[in-house]
Amino acid sequence: MRATTAVIPAAGLGTRFYPVTKAVPKELLPIVDVPAIQLVIDEAIAAGCDHIVVVSHPSKGPIERYLTPDATVVAKVRDSGRTEMADRLACIGTEVRVTVVHQDAPRGLGHAVGCARAAVGGNPFAVLLPDELMGDANLLVALVDSVDATGVGAVGLMRVPADEVSAYGVVTPSAASPHEGPFQIVDVVEKPRREDAPSNLIIIGRYVLTPDVFEEIDRLSPQANGEMQLTDALRSQSATSPLTGLLNRSKRWDTGTPMGWLIAVVDIALERPDVANAFGAWLRQRVDP
Ligand code: UTP
Repeated sequence: MRATTAVIPAAGLGTRFYPVTKAVPKELLPIVDVPAIQLVIDEAIAAGCDHIVVVSHPSKGPIERYLTPDATVVAKVRDSGRTEMADRLACIGTEVRVTVVHQDAPRGLGHAVGCARAAVGGNPFAVLLPDELMGDANLLVALVDSVDATGVGAVGLMRVPADEVSAYGVVTPSAASPHEGPFQIVDVVEKPRREDAPSNLIIIGRYVLTPDVFEEIDRLSPQANGEMQLTDALRSQSATSPLTGLLNRSKRWDTGTPMGWLIAVVDIALERPDVANAFGAWLRQRVDP
């Protein structure tokens, strides 16, 4: 069965982006003029999702405000003659069904996904981390196709240099897996030491999971930092039924840090037809006067 619900966990504190995240959810930081979470919603819609479940925190009210349709704003913008912008604003929160659920405290990604259980129901579902932006929806489409065809969960992967593995969830591919994938994942380990890492294949923020993962999430106990990790649930799942890993072949930006966000904004601005020329000309002059 095809996944048509997308879960977007957005209840974290964004501590790597203090001080701005003291008041502004990092999921709303602008990529030129579009909040990061909107780009991720657009990706989910492009991959065929018609129900978006955002896991937020009560202190992150602006996310709900952004997702709530506002006919007054739309009417004002339409009256001012900006028809195209009025149409765009009218789509926010209406184009597809949006459900917001709350995580009471940032108790880890596994716990955050667990909070979406009732909203997801009993079918396969996508998970998109909103601080990772993709150049297109190709990876998510491939993950949805894979789960539809095989009935087992699928995760996006990328290779990183060996000295970076300790920051990520790292997978063990079966010996029979081809070098370029698809990989049969037989184990997953969160943030291993470089010397203990089973591979240099890390899980990136795109997943399509089967609903039995909620049973594994229920069984999670908090780690030393109090968090329940999604990778631990995937680890238990892969022990009984290997997950599929697909290498990402599209662009990917990690906007979770100020530097990563800056790179994403500049890169995406240079790809946007409405700003690329003027911004590119300014940038070339700035870098090489
Ligand atoms: P991150 O670990 O990148 O985000 O989680 P964070 O915890 O907000 O940021 P730092 O590390 O403190 O700077 C990836 C995504 O998962 C969500 C976050 O909001 C982010 O979008 N998340 C994380 C939750 O929804 N709940 C959690 O308990 C943890």
